[in-house]
Amino acid sequence: MKKQSSVRLRAQYRCTECGYAAAKPLGQCPDCSAWNSMIEEAVAEEGKTKASRGLVDFSSTPTPLADLASGGPPAERSATGLGEFDRLLGGGVVPGQVVLLAGPPGIGKSTLMLQAAARLCPKLSVLYVSGEESLKQVAERARRLGITGGAITLLSETDLSKILAAMETLKPGLVVLDSVQTVHHPEWPGTPGSVAQVRECSAELLRAAKGKDTVVFLLGHVTKEGSLAGPKLLEHLVDTVLYFDTERHDLLRVLRASKNRFGPTDEIGLFEMAAGGLTEVRDAASLFVEGAGPGTCGRAVSVALEGSRPILAEAQALVVTTRYPLPRRTATGLEYNRVLMLLAAMEKHLKLRLEDKDVFVSLAGGLKMNDPAMDLAACMAVLSSARDAAVPSDMVFIGEVGLLGRIGRVPNLDGRLREAAKAGFKRAVVASSGKPPTGRHTGIAVNPVATLQEAAALCCGSQPQKSVKNIDGHQDARSATIDDDNA
Ligand code: TYD
Ligand code: MG
Repeated sequence: MKKQSSVRLRAQYRCTECGYAAAKPLGQCPDCSAWNSMIEEAVAEEGKTKASRGLVDFSSTPTPLADLASGGPPAERSATGLGEFDRLLGGGVVPGQVVLLAGPPGIGKSTLMLQAAARLCPKLSVLYVSGEESLKQVAERARRLGITGGAITLLSETDLSKILAAMETLKPGLVVLDSVQTVHHPEWPGTPGSVAQVRECSAELLRAAKGKDTVVFLLGHVTKEGSLAGPKLLEHLVDTVLYFDTERHDLLRVLRASKNRFGPTDEIGLFEMAAGGLTEVRDAASLFVEGAGPGTCGRAVSVALEGSRPILAEAQALVVTTRYPLPRRTATGLEYNRVLMLLAAMEKHLKLRLEDKDVFVSLAGGLKMNDPAMDLAACMAVLSSARDAAVPSDMVFIGEVGLLGRIGRVPNLDGRLREAAKAGFKRAVVASSGKPPTGRHTGIAVNPVATLQEAAALCCGSQPQKSVKNIDGHQDARSATIDDDNA
């Protein structure tokens, strides 16, 4: 007798908030603590169906890598022509690539995608599925962006079966799903945006796209807490995860790759939202430097790395006599504990008295950085404010400051120096340890220093010098300049 190949189903309960699965119905999710969020779903008893695991089927026969590695040229990338976007993608989209573009509502995901799709459509036919806006709204947006249409087909649909049918007939090279939270499949449990729907719909779409080498962009909303069902759930499923967010009080939009199977993850793309859509910010070098007058005290510029991209960042400090028993310290844009450490190092190694001073340290332009190369600039800004002496306006400071008051080397010094030179800086204070920078061609004079004292002497060297004895009995004129200040 022939054995029947029927799939046995069993009930399982899944949290609509976080996706936690339990065998029994529970009032509160043990994982995310949400109440009444568990819904029943049917899962295959044995070997679990592909759909319930949310995996895409790549089933193939075992093949030696050597056979594949030598076979033909690498897949051709299609560049969007939006340089900032392409750099994140590693030069453009690869056939069959699935990209998740996530960000808070209103950040510009739909705008970015429409602009990118318009630039890709001579190479790839585009199916733009909007579950959030009507055809008229999308067309109106396209008109404002100056997009005429070309090979873009619009579809305003939330029913996945109809989207799949459209893909079947149109055979697009690129599909944009705006957004994963709006699609639903009538046969699956849950409302649109629920864990079950987001996961199953995305997996189904990917299954339809993979193998046909269709590029898929999934757009998804995240709340500020990043908790909403959707993007987090799909990260493992897709090739590339891009997060779009704001910096600098909404003026600047930053695109970051948090996962990338076909490109780098340490790059950022910078955009500005203008009346005609998103425009690339190519020259970010001096974006975060406030051009203060030459005599301004309490500021020092550094070159921080954001990914592999050097960005000029200005540390600002205000040191004032405190009116409280416990002096205040605040750090904006830099890590608080790091700033406390830097202040302590300055107290110790520069003999700078700060115990009766309030110290405020921030980065200009609302920038947030945790590159240790900013340390030296932060210290010099504090010193400058404490001493009421301006840092030379043509000087940048690139170096990490350690507990022992020594200046540490930082990666990609040449790149940073080039960026500083481009922005018009003439002198750079860098760590003397390690390999000296090769970049004579940068046109910037490099001043290597080993300690905080040496940096302070270079930075505020015009102070009257007085010789003092070090602990080892050596005369040290440079440290004397610092001692003067607090004498
Ligand atoms: P949108 O792409 O709809 O954001 P998302 O899809 O991430 O929710 O863009 C939202 C904002 O962009 C909206 O507040 C309006 C603004 N915008 C402009 O300023 N200029 C433009 O040309 C466009 C299309 C949008
Ligand atoms: Mg949108």
